[in-house]
Amino acid sequence: MLGSSVTAVAMAVGALFAWLWTDAKVSTVGKEPFGNALAIPPQAESSVDKDGTRVFDLRMRAGETEFRAGVKTPTWGFNGSYLGPTLRARRGEKVRVRISNALDEASTVHWHGMHLPARMDGGPHQMIAPGGTWSPHWTVDQPAATLWYHPHPHGGTARHVQRGLAGLFLLDDERSGRLPLPKRYGVDDLPVIVQDVRFDGARLAGDRGMLQNVGFLGDRTMVNGTLRPFRQVHDELIRLRLLNASTARTYAFGFPDGRSFSLIATDGGLLERPASMERVQLSPGERAEIVVRMRAGERVMLRSFPQGNYGDGWQRRFGGGDDSFDVLELRAAARLRPSPALPATLGKPETPDGKGSVRGRHFDLKRSGINGRSMDMGRVDETVTRGTTEVWTVRNSNGMPHNFHVHDVQFRVLEVNGSAPPPALSGPKDTVFVPHGTTVRLALRFTGPADPDTPYMYHCHLLYHEDEGMMGQFVVTEKGEPGAPREHPGHGAGHTHR
Ligand code: C2O
Ligand code: CU
Ligand code: CU
Repeated sequence: MLGSSVTAVAMAVGALFAWLWTDAKVSTVGKEPFGNALAIPPQAESSVDKDGTRVFDLRMRAGETEFRAGVKTPTWGFNGSYLGPTLRARRGEKVRVRISNALDEASTVHWHGMHLPARMDGGPHQMIAPGGTWSPHWTVDQPAATLWYHPHPHGGTARHVQRGLAGLFLLDDERSGRLPLPKRYGVDDLPVIVQDVRFDGARLAGDRGMLQNVGFLGDRTMVNGTLRPFRQVHDELIRLRLLNASTARTYAFGFPDGRSFSLIATDGGLLERPASMERVQLSPGERAEIVVRMRAGERVMLRSFPQGNYGDGWQRRFGGGDDSFDVLELRAAARLRPSPALPATLGKPETPDGKGSVRGRHFDLKRSGINGRSMDMGRVDETVTRGTTEVWTVRNSNGMPHNFHVHDVQFRVLEVNGSAPPPALSGPKDTVFVPHGTTVRLALRFTGPADPDTPYMYHCHLLYHEDEGMMGQFVVTEKGEPGAPREHPGHGAGHTHR
């Protein structure tokens, strides 16, 4: 009796596990035709005020979005019901963004990848109350790049981004304007905001599966809020500005026919020269600009492939590493306009090379916290000196994937596990994937301004991990200024704009 019931239980558990294992692998490859025209986020209107400041308006609001014909999904967006307009400014320009929060809860708007004063950063200390406004302003002083903006409320970032609050912030500079790169927005220069979603009836699901320790994983992807999107293109060379705006999922983008493409830019802007590759891996928050050559009349799918560096077999299966997605179909017109060849040299990197570093710091990534500490709004973890370069060593031996994002700076990856970084990590970065078993060394330069009272964040950009506490705070101080006190009483509750 006992023996047979033990056997029955074991068999039931085995069957359940087999089902979980099989069910965990997600693929949308070749499943459905891609027949929806890709939405292109509008470029935000702006005005220039008396002192030359370019002024944008963003309104955070709730709405409904028809992702599927006839089904209205409750969503959030900036100036619309889902996602936000593309902001665009030039290096040297003063910008101001007038934000109003028409949601019924407090949130923030963070400028991911932007070098700017800590008070303007939009991290968890710059909350905007429901009905409140906030008008950060700064001078753009960094190279041309594909940056983005999204909320950053402490403990609620995943939910706010997933509801639809995200948009691109493109920077241009003199050099990028002169280079013969595809640069007609929405024509041969396409924004590609990739998010994975799952629908629970009409609603967007946001819950994490039982064995998913990376956070929410969807069972399909959208680009710019469009399911199964296609885009008709008319030029030989198409530039894709890829943003992984998913909360937890990492992608490895490429094309099914194995064609190579040119990587021209990473998070913080142009590489020194184009790098030819067949795959580019992006963890949450990372960007890559690639240029792909089209043949007249063809249809080619941008696809995300399984990823071998996602940990052990268990982690790969339940963390999304085995998954694959058809992402965006490019349909080339029967006749294509010729594009100029890509220039041999692109950007002039401004990231530090680590020489003259005044200080090394170590960051150990664990789901429970960074360096054994969970995020505390009232604690400043690190104090750096304005005008100095540091080398940060970031290590993950936690068994699951993490990444590492630092506010305010673009850094250079010096080493990955003791070796020179691959081309995909050779450009300016603000977020770097750190799979299990990986140690990266980064060179960062902090140019200020100093503000001992307002911290910037560094964190894992798998938003579930960030919300759980995989985040720390640093302040930039003047040389000789005493470091900020470790306990920062003024910051416990943050500062809310009303
Ligand atoms: Cu994309 Cu701290 O954020
Ligand atoms: Cu950021
Ligand atoms: Cu993480």
